[in-house]
Amino acid sequence: MKNVAIMGYGTVGSGVYQIIQKNNSHVSRRAGDEVRVKYVLDLRDFPGDPVEEVLVHDVEVILQDPEVEVVVEVMGGTKPAYDFVKRAILAGKSVCTSNKELVAKHGAELLRLAKERNINFFFEASVGGGIPVIRPLSSSLTPDHIEEISGILNGTTNYILTKMTDEGLAFEDVLRDAQEKGYAERNPEADVEGYDACRKIAILASLAYEKQVDYEDIYTEGITAITQEDLTYAKELGGAVKLLGLAKRENGKVVAMVAPFLVSGESPLASVNGVFNAILFHGDNLGDVMFYGKGAGKEATASAVVADVIEAIRKKGRTDEVFWSEEKRVLGSVDAFSTRYLVRIKGTDRKEEIEQAFGSVEYLKPAAGGETAFLTGSLSGQAFREAAKSMELISRIRVL
Ligand code: HSE
Repeated sequence: MKNVAIMGYGTVGSGVYQIIQKNNSHVSRRAGDEVRVKYVLDLRDFPGDPVEEVLVHDVEVILQDPEVEVVVEVMGGTKPAYDFVKRAILAGKSVCTSNKELVAKHGAELLRLAKERNINFFFEASVGGGIPVIRPLSSSLTPDHIEEISGILNGTTNYILTKMTDEGLAFEDVLRDAQEKGYAERNPEADVEGYDACRKIAILASLAYEKQVDYEDIYTEGITAITQEDLTYAKELGGAVKLLGLAKRENGKVVAMVAPFLVSGESPLASVNGVFNAILFHGDNLGDVMFYGKGAGKEATASAVVADVIEAIRKKGRTDEVFWSEEKRVLGSVDAFSTRYLVRIKGTDRKEEIEQAFGSVEYLKPAAGGETAFLTGSLSGQAFREAAKSMELISRIRVL
């Protein structure tokens, strides 16, 4: 018998509990022993819910029970999750978490502490919901240098952008719908301002480039300023607007950012729609490889957590080698990142001024009156700002 404790009975926690109950014989067979949820920790009571039988309100019950071998942390945030997880690891229990905030901030330290105790700290569900991406990065793509990561890492914003594109709906209306469907976080700011994607690209970049990437250092833009006109230009060009998390090596430095991009129709990322996520890696030998699936939602995320539980049980006494050192990586300036831009400026008859500033550009059919829209050549952030400084800018979107 392998005893598991779940910390947090919210959306993901209840999903983990239900999968372990519903698929118990399958999960147990895969784990090599019977898997039982011995405790669920939550401050709340759940009258009438079968979880009542195993519900506890005091974390000490879990931490001090030597029978608990694996702890699932799905509370979110770092307080008190960090303290609980660290103490669980120090008590010799493997931990599986979906908590991207915790992993982005403390992942390197928790991995080291777990390694010192021959246990595991797993966090597959912290990036890409149900999509296996963390383990493949650490165990399958190992011979390659990862030259670039580009990912649709947030289901809510992808759902919003897809609905805005397909149905011509306004941002606020689609956001409400996403919240009702349970995709958006309680605080939608984390999704729509790109903070959620920022933590996820920080985790991927830390793993791919082997040193701590602090999410506070990552340039982040959200999707709140995207309008129907922006989407019309993207459609006219045969592409789509996507919120991307990017990390790449540029001039020997790692550059990372989160921003909306106009993704060319030829990129596999352009056809990733709705709540789906996709993470595209470019390895120096492998070339492109893309992982695609449900990036949010109760069952999908819980499935990835339970996969970690099974792995933690199977790997008892042996720590998976993960290369993520606590040493901080100083990121290269995002200004050095060169890309084409879709630019919209106020006014018509501005061609001379535009070409003087940007050189040769590709004009687009205006999607609204009183504006000029065009595609620039490849420019660094600094060169773009310099060229655009005398223009009345309506919007600008990077092009991938
Ligand atoms: N709010 C997140 C998303 C949940 O929309 O992707 C998964 O981290």
